[in-house]
Amino acid sequence: MSKQIAIDGPAGAGKSTIAKKLASDLSFVYVDTGAMYRSIGLYMLKNGIDIHDKDAVESASKNADVELKYIDGTQHVLLNRDDVSTEIREEQVGKAASTVSQYPEVRKNLTALQKKLAETENVVMDGRDIGTCVLPNADLKIYLTASAEVRGKRRFDELEAKGEKADLPTIIEDIKKRDEADMTREISPLKKADDAVLVDSSDMTIDEVVSKIKSLYV
Ligand code: DC
Repeated sequence: MSKQIAIDGPAGAGKSTIAKKLASDLSFVYVDTGAMYRSIGLYMLKNGIDIHDKDAVESASKNADVELKYIDGTQHVLLNRDDVSTEIREEQVGKAASTVSQYPEVRKNLTALQKKLAETENVVMDGRDIGTCVLPNADLKIYLTASAEVRGKRRFDELEAKGEKADLPTIIEDIKKRDEADMTREISPLKKADDAVLVDSSDMTIDEVVSKIKSLYV
């Protein structure tokens, strides 16, 4: 049986940084499920499909082949064989991902792909519904969160470091809107699984969070 660690939580809680580090320390494969939803969002934007049109998105998603590939231990996301790992990080792609992730057909296909990955590899998988839907029997489930203000500030610092213009109140407002959308959608909304451990990273460093999760994984 492969080993599974599920990390869920809202946007900007540090899930990917922490999951990546944890996976590397444990020699597990890191699976970023948000990247898969982002790829579907990107496909719709690139092909001029109205992301608010459920039927159009569900139908078009049949032509979007999403694949994860690992090169020297780093995850690369392929969309119809093109490496879109960088492009999917754009803000508008994140918003599109949040919208298309509401649609049942999109979720069904990506969930199946995620379950399949976890069958053969030891994984640290992060997302919104990993502990509740994708890996309900995971060995350890973490719900990682932080206040919207702290998450906004982290995002603001990231953008500033890249030399991009950013407005902190707007970022915090966007984060709150995304939380609301992800938590209130009908299918597989973001919520803490009953058996998940809540970790609030507002006042913790990355290393502290990684150590805490390791101490829970015994
Ligand atoms: O973690 P992220 O910001 O890369 O995720 C982008 C969007 O994808 C997020 O707003 C909601 C959706 N998502 C999801 O519905 N289920 C997942 N397991 C992962 C992401």
